[in-house]
This record gives sequence, C-alpha cells and structure tokens, in this order.
Amino acid sequence: MNNIGEIIYKKRTELGLTQAQLASVLNVSFQSVSKWENSTAYPDIEKLTELAAALKTNVDVLLGYKGATADYDSRYAAEGYYWGLKPNRMCYEIMSLLPPIKPYRLLDIGCGEGKDAVFFAKCGYLVTAFDISENGIEKSKRLAEHNRVNVEFIKADIMDFRFDRDYDIIFSSGVLHFLRPSYREEICARLKAHTAPNGFNALNVFVQKPFIVRAPDSSRDESLRHPWLSGELLGYYHDWLFHSCREDVFDCRSGGTPHKHCMDSLIAQKLGEGEIL
Ligand SMILES: C[S@@+](CC[C@H](N)C(=O)[O-])C[C@H]1O[C@@H](n2cnc3c(N)ncnc32)[C@H](O)[C@@H]1O
Repeated sequence: MNNIGEIIYKKRTELGLTQAQLASVLNVSFQSVSKWENSTAYPDIEKLTELAAALKTNVDVLLGYKGATADYDSRYAAEGYYWGLKPNRMCYEIMSLLPPIKPYRLLDIGCGEGKDAVFFAKCGYLVTAFDISENGIEKSKRLAEHNRVNVEFIKADIMDFRFDRDYDIIFSSGVLHFLRPSYREEICARLKAHTAPNGFNALNVFVQKPFIVRAPDSSRDESLRHPWLSGELLGYYHDWLFHSCREDVFDCRSGGTPHKHCMDSLIAQKLGEGEIL
C-alpha cells in the first residue's frame, strides 16, 4: 500500500474514528478527510505531523515509506532459509536468565523467517513475532506449523506496530539498523515502556567500523540501512541492569560471499527504583 488516502483510511478505521472525528481533531472539514481518503485531494504538508499523531503513526508511514520490504521479500521467496535455522546466541542467554517456568510473553521484532520465534515457542514461551516482509511471515508460519507450535505472526512495520500489551521479553536481532537514526530514541523508549517489570530486552544492532567493508548482499538501497555507532545502544538503556553487553566482529556467508559484520548486543533488565536484586 503506498497511497496516502488508503493509508489514512486504514489507520482511521483501525482506530475506530469517523471522518468527522478525525476532521475535528485536525480542525478541518470532514469533506477534506473524505477527499484525502478518495485521493481527490492531499493534506497540506504542514498538517502531516498533526495528522500522523492523530492516527497514532508517523509521517514516514503516512507517506508509504516501504522500508526494507522489497529487498527481504525477494530473499525470502527462495527455497531454504536465508539465515539458516540455528537460533541466535541471545536466545540461549534469555533461556538462562528467564527460563520458561511459566508462559512468559515474548515479542520478536523483525523475525525474518521465524527461526528464533519458533525456537522460543518450542521452549515454552508465548511468542508474538512480526516482520515487514510478507514472504518472511508466510515462511515463519510454515516453520511454526512444521514444528507444531503456536506463534502469533503478524506482518507489521516496527514504525507502526501497535503495542497493546506488555512483554516479559522483547527480542530483536539484526533489525534496528533499518530505523532512521532520528527514530531510535523513540523506538527504544517504546520497547522499554512495553516491557513488564523485571522483564528483559535482548537486542543487537549492526555498528559501523572504518575497517569493515560493506556486505556484498547488503540492501540494494543503501539509504535504508543506518548502522549504529559503537556503544550507542547501551546509552538508551543506561537506567536498566545490563546482563550482557558486547561487541563482536564476525564472519558471515549470507548470500554466499564471505564478509564480516560488527555487531553490538545487549541484554538488559528493567528494574524499578528500590527494586531488590
Ligand atoms: C537481518 S534480517 C534478521 C531477521 C531475523 N531477526 C533473524 O535474525 O533471522 C532483518 C529483518 O528485519 C526486517 N525488517 C526490516 N525493516 C523492518 C521494519 N521496519 N519493521 C519490521 N521488520 C523489518 C526484514 O524484513 C528482515 O526480515
């Protein structure tokens, strides 16, 4: 979907707002909203931020910014699993920090083809997972079916995902460099706010290093990728308890050509003031 009218309609109806209600928040006529939705007129540029806020989204989404969808959709269309099926190292760390002695709720952001989400579900966590790629979500569903586990898989964009509950664990591997840097603070704040007391965030981000050359299979549109600075992720979690934080340079064979990446990983726990360790 890339038409602003369709996007306004979808967001407005998802929120259960009438055209008149949206119009009154924005101080415009309901006919204006109707024209936007029918694509016979467009909202003024100066109204976009206000409109995005009223629709609980952001201007990028309103304008149909597609992020990495196309790139990953084509990778995931192929047979086999682009990232393999081996769970990420952070999965095992989470298992030892918060073993699934009860069905803890876990959210996997940018789950790709579902390998980590399915691993967590097999271990007994209650998993919700989303990705912007339709093919990724379809493949993830098939993987869950094959492993006879239930995972709530959703096709969604991180910029747009509506948190309607809190999670004990929020997990994301290899995704947050798709966020524009100006959204990092807001997204990290949202992840932290939607983490249950004593819950965990397990995140990793690609970081830029002058001595590491670009991966040959990196997104065809380089403007979509925004590697972080070393240590930057830790800063957003300065008020949480760190269980592990590290920086690794590692070899990768994705796409068939050997190359290297540098990644910062963090597992941090939300402890409130006066909380006893
Ligand atoms: C490097 S892959 C990692 C996939 C998976 N986490 C894994 O480790 O196997 C990055 C994933 O982020 C997803 N992605 C990129 N931008 C996204 C966005 N704005 N919202 C949700 N997912 C996104 C891509 O579709 C892709 O599946």
